[in-house]
Amino acid sequence: MIKSTTIVGLSGSLRKASSNTKLIKYIEKKIKLKDGDIHFSFGNINLPLYNDDLEKEAGIPETVIKLGETLSRASGIIISTPEYNKGISGALKNSFDWMSRLKPNPFTSKTIAIVSATDGRSGGERSQYMLRMCLTPFDCKIIQTPEVLIGHSSRAFNEAGDLTDEKSNELLDKLLEKFLAQSSI
Ligand SMILES: Cc1cc2nc3c(=O)[nH]c(=O)nc-3n(C[C@H](O)[C@H](O)[C@H](O)COP(=O)(O)O)c2cc1C
Repeated sequence: MIKSTTIVGLSGSLRKASSNTKLIKYIEKKIKLKDGDIHFSFGNINLPLYNDDLEKEAGIPETVIKLGETLSRASGIIISTPEYNKGISGALKNSFDWMSRLKPNPFTSKTIAIVSATDGRSGGERSQYMLRMCLTPFDCKIIQTPEVLIGHSSRAFNEAGDLTDEKSNELLDKLLEKFLAQSSI
């Protein structure tokens, strides 16, 4: 049983109907069904575009500080990435650049689980690799397997927001089991 853990979910897509946001919400639902003292919150990556001048002239923006505080409280972070032109979204990369300006970097030493959803066939395999690479300088504990890749994501969820494919659910359950075991206190 999980004793106590604080999990933060990040969706790499900003759009309202995002399938990556749906996936994070579905994960929240699954995690909350587990026994134990589990807190789950969403991190908002809708931040100004990183510019050193902005930081020097006006300081770190409020939204960046807020995301930093949310992530700092987490024992584990779960990131769902879309695939934009074979890579992660600009919004997600931008949030990493901002977080790296905070001291300490809120990602450092955190357990991270990665999932992805794309409307193509691949399910975001290439963006997952890029995401792992982008997190390298942050010294996180990234769970490497199983890979949860949701293809044809516009058809992958039912009206209740549940992921319908059995195999994907099986892999997701395995990933979450490892993630929660490694991020709970
Ligand atoms: C600019 C752009 C580039 C895209 N490039 C890819 C891609 O390289 N591979 C892929 O599988 N899907 C690609 N797509 C389709 C996305 O997978 C699809 O829009 C997906 O729904 C995005 O995630 P979301 O539903 O969370 O917003 C691209 C979409 C956009 C808008």
